[in-house]
Amino acid sequence: MTRRTVRIAMNGVTGRMGYRQHLVRSILALREQGGLDLGNGETLWPEPVLVGRREHALRALAERHGLTEWSTDLDAVLADDTVDVYFDAQVTPARVDAITRAVAAGKHVYTEKPTAADLAGALELARLAEAKGVKHGVVQDKLFLPGLLKLKRLVDGGFFGEILSVRGEFGYWVFEGDWQDAQRPSWNYRAEDGGGIVVDMFPHWEYVLHELFGRVTSVTAHVATHVPRRWDERGEPYAATADDAAYGIFQLEGGAVAQINSSWAVRVHRDELVEFQVDGTHGSAVAGLRDCRVQHRSATPKPVWNPDLPAAHSFRDQWQEVPDNAEFDNGFKAQWELFLRHVALDEPYHWDLLAGARGVQLAELGLRSAAEGRRLDVPEVTL
Ligand SMILES: NC(=O)c1ccc[n+]([C@@H]2O[C@H](COP(=O)([O-])OP(=O)(O)OC[C@H]3O[C@@H](n4cnc5c(N)ncnc54)[C@H](O)[C@@H]3O)[C@@H](O)[C@H]2O)c1
Repeated sequence: MTRRTVRIAMNGVTGRMGYRQHLVRSILALREQGGLDLGNGETLWPEPVLVGRREHALRALAERHGLTEWSTDLDAVLADDTVDVYFDAQVTPARVDAITRAVAAGKHVYTEKPTAADLAGALELARLAEAKGVKHGVVQDKLFLPGLLKLKRLVDGGFFGEILSVRGEFGYWVFEGDWQDAQRPSWNYRAEDGGGIVVDMFPHWEYVLHELFGRVTSVTAHVATHVPRRWDERGEPYAATADDAAYGIFQLEGGAVAQINSSWAVRVHRDELVEFQVDGTHGSAVAGLRDCRVQHRSATPKPVWNPDLPAAHSFRDQWQEVPDNAEFDNGFKAQWELFLRHVALDEPYHWDLLAGARGVQLAELGLRSAAEGRRLDVPEVTL
């Protein structure tokens, strides 16, 4: 085995996603397993260069994990010819500028979503990267969740017959921050700082629907700010200017309809924090982050509506668990591995900045639909 190094500038690694999912659970996890076996006698060894604004935070983080390279000077890191990849998990408004600089410096780019604040900005990034000839990828982690992988397996196996509808329920209570700390950063609740549940979640729903059931062709959304006052990381009250709930209806190519509720102001009476129910002519499935249950038409009970009697069945017990039949790795790591293979071996990879732009488009149109109170067509995005 020969070892090949890939040097990755990682910006935003002090944040929730950058630290836990990308640094620890993906890049450091790859190192713990001895690197990425490329299957050609080579092992790819990721070498992170931590980038951020706060020197003390970066140093502490590097020391905690035995890493030696960190910098507060993004331009200097980008000017370093030994750095191959630029990764971005900063707050959303800082993303376009940093990626633009990284592309200009000839780095391959891997980034969190949303890639930009609007479709024009997201498309511009995709065009710049294509023109420069660098490789680019956007996080679409939900596709790599065990529950959704099982759901995709059912779709590919023809389990559903004709798919009629998809209903998604996502959300949980995010504490206001006064008497219990909020479990998400305060910028998420300020529109002026890139917050809002539509810009956060509609990019996810775009690729989930697109890849499993068909491209979204129209959107109707109603959004709300149910909790208008919250308390920030310093305990100071602030006006929550961004939407914290979105009720969306999406028409899909192929004729199915999807309806997804997203909310940070809902209490969970579900098995998982996100669940999708898919109903088809031949069967139905309910998939969450990890689990997936099915009910085939041959095993579908015949409930009879009678409010005078208590329910005669336990409806949940009438579903069958879909087996794992595979080992599922962390979804973020699984996607990192595919991106790094794309960089190292030129293997195909379609979760790119153009795919990222489709997500930004759906968020933009979702917000416009809500503001104008009407259904909007979603035109196909091209470079
Ligand atoms: N894929 C997913 O499931 C998922 C989930 C949550 C968030 N995200 C995305 O990840 C990104 C980071 O979200 P997070 O929840 O980790 O946020 P966070 O606030 O925890 O972390 C943000 C990071 O950006 C840095 N930062 C803060 N303000 C900055 C500024 N003004 N300029 C430059 N850098 C700044 C912070 O130091 C930190 O490292 C967002 O774009 C968000 O949309 C993705």
